[in-house]
Amino acid sequence: MAEVCEFEGHGYAEELARRPESAGDARRFVSTALRVWRMDHVIEDARLVATELVTNALRHAEEGPVRVSICRKAARRRVRIAVVDQSDTVPLLRAAGRDAEAGHGLLMVHELSGGCWATDLLAVGKRVRADIYVGDGRGEWT
Ligand SMILES: Nc1ncnc2c1ncn2[C@@H]1O[C@H](COP(=O)(O)OP(=O)(O)O)[C@@H](O)[C@H]1O
Ligand SMILES: [Mg+2]
Repeated sequence: MAEVCEFEGHGYAEELARRPESAGDARRFVSTALRVWRMDHVIEDARLVATELVTNALRHAEEGPVRVSICRKAARRRVRIAVVDQSDTVPLLRAAGRDAEAGHGLLMVHELSGGCWATDLLAVGKRVRADIYVGDGRGEWT
């Protein structure tokens, strides 16, 4: 499934419509995958990350398809949530304390992933991805 996710392993991907309901669709999508993998304890964090990354893609990328994926990496005991959009602007963390009205959503992604998030520029657009630690002895990996 290399095309689905560069984090080799098992995963799922879904293309989302450009509409507000897509954040909810992404939440259901990651929840289902994590239930199948018996990783229920990270569902809440994964839903927050997916919500933020999809909302950003819809709000800041403005046009073109948005694609969400989730995959798991046994060797690192992590799951990766990635969202591809068609804008080549690299998202940046806002400084804490500035512009209090903004969501600081990426700051939350940063915290939930333990800093393990990044942006990959693609031929068209980019992929923003964040890894969530599942833990040893938990979840199904094969
Ligand atoms: N998918 C994206 N495409 C382009 N720019 C983005 C994307 N995601 C985030 N950004 C940029 O990074 C900034 C910080 O994102 P975030 O912390 O989620 O704050 P907010 O979405 O509330 O503005 C955004 O204001 C935006 O400029
Ligand atoms: Mg945001």
